[in-house]
Amino acid sequence: MKDKAFLRKQVLEHLRLYSDLGVRWMRAPEPRRKSAPRKPESQRSAAPPVAMADTRPAAAKIAVNASMFDVVPSSDESLDAIRKELGDCRRCKLAPTRTNIVFGAGNPHADLMFVGEAPGADEDEQGLPFVGRAGQLLTKIIESTGMRRDDVYICNILKCRPPGNRNPETDEIASCEQFLFRQIAAVKPKIICALGAFGAQTLLRTTQPIGRLRGQLIDYRGAKLVATFHPAYLLRNPIEKRKVWEDMQIVRNYLLSIQAANSTK
Ligand code: URA
Repeated sequence: MKDKAFLRKQVLEHLRLYSDLGVRWMRAPEPRRKSAPRKPESQRSAAPPVAMADTRPAAAKIAVNASMFDVVPSSDESLDAIRKELGDCRRCKLAPTRTNIVFGAGNPHADLMFVGEAPGADEDEQGLPFVGRAGQLLTKIIESTGMRRDDVYICNILKCRPPGNRNPETDEIASCEQFLFRQIAAVKPKIICALGAFGAQTLLRTTQPIGRLRGQLIDYRGAKLVATFHPAYLLRNPIEKRKVWEDMQIVRNYLLSIQAANSTK
């Protein structure tokens, strides 16, 4: 058995994570009851669907035109093949000012995929997504779904840094997004988390503000999509961390519901 000091440290680290994400209280666990004898597998009914934490009033829900995204792109293309085709990309005006192309990183068969906006200075320098301050917060956000950073796949709408971290422009998105859609088709995630307005609006083909898109499970290209605030926005507006935590519970519950359904098959 692990010693008390080790467990105490683990619990403290866990609580610190929730605190960083803006969680201010937790319900104490119910005292354990003596459980009824377990039914044999053959007599058990399928697990009930796990409740989704939708914190917004029903009237505020967005009717995203899901039919646009019903097509499940079937692809045998690997991420390596897509990266190879991207090459030393010169398709848009960002090429001359970038240092490195930031293609994406993580588990190529991830159930959960994060899509951000565009590389910043740290990412441009290292050629990896979300490695700066916003990236450190993203790691905590990922951990609040019960996953580790290595379990998920992370990429951006744009693969090159816009100078001075300005917003992506329409022509840049237009030349880059085919690579993102092919990455999604190659990874085949069960759920995509769009980080920030650009990620969410580009994927969902909408101009709705992120504050209205977040907080719901949306059908998307044969998978699900949850939009939430960008970690860089959270660094400036820490009060919104609570909402991101709630969005991550939607992601977590969806992944758990799939696991539960698979385990009863
Ligand atoms: N912001 C993003 O949207 N993507 C990154 O990779 C880093 C910061």
